[in-house]
Amino acid sequence: MPTPVAGPVQCDQLHVMGLATGSTPLELYKLISESDLDFSQASSVNLDEYVGLKPTDPQSYHYFMQEHLFDAKPFKESFFPDGTNPDAGAVTREYDRILARHPIDLQVLGIGRNGHIGFNEPGTTFDSHTHRVALTPSTIDANARFFDQPEQVPRYAYTMGIASIMAAKRVILLAFGKEKAAAIRASLLGPVTPDVPAWVLQRHPNVTVVLDVAAASQF
Ligand code: F6R
Repeated sequence: MPTPVAGPVQCDQLHVMGLATGSTPLELYKLISESDLDFSQASSVNLDEYVGLKPTDPQSYHYFMQEHLFDAKPFKESFFPDGTNPDAGAVTREYDRILARHPIDLQVLGIGRNGHIGFNEPGTTFDSHTHRVALTPSTIDANARFFDQPEQVPRYAYTMGIASIMAAKRVILLAFGKEKAAAIRASLLGPVTPDVPAWVLQRHPNVTVVLDVAAASQF
């Protein structure tokens, strides 16, 4: 029997990892943090960032990633849309340039209760690239749990577009809990509609969907 090799394990097919925030990937990030995986030669690009929050703001997605993954598993370089820059045109053009230079090998996705992926809310066109979005009341409400007061939830975010997500070579969609069940059913079985942004994943050639029993309860 081969002797297991101790020490860091590099994933040589994973040069660029696309990452999500939120409660869904927390367990995944914990498992990665405790593993021997080594990302010091890989790059990461995050899906989104709130407009108006600095990376040092505990509610920013940058801070979230630092706390839940990067402190334990630093990447060679990690990119986020620049939430501190109110010039949406400049931020989105720059992030699209970054994505073009760092094609994503594996994109981790959660899903919103309304079927959003990244911050691509219902109605977002499938050909969208990085853009600034006004968050819907449902998303503001869902994200209020991370803030002391609901009115502190930023109203805008920068997000990779649907076309940016679809350009990833592989996608892993995670959904846990019964509040995700309707969005998962509509995404995987429903008719083509930008009203359920995650539906577009039916057109992606390489998607893995990981659900718990509650999220799969409407099949
Ligand atoms: C976060 C993101 C969002 C979340 C979604 C689910 O970077 O892109 O699309 O994945 O809002 O959030 P949770 O996991 O908190 O239920």
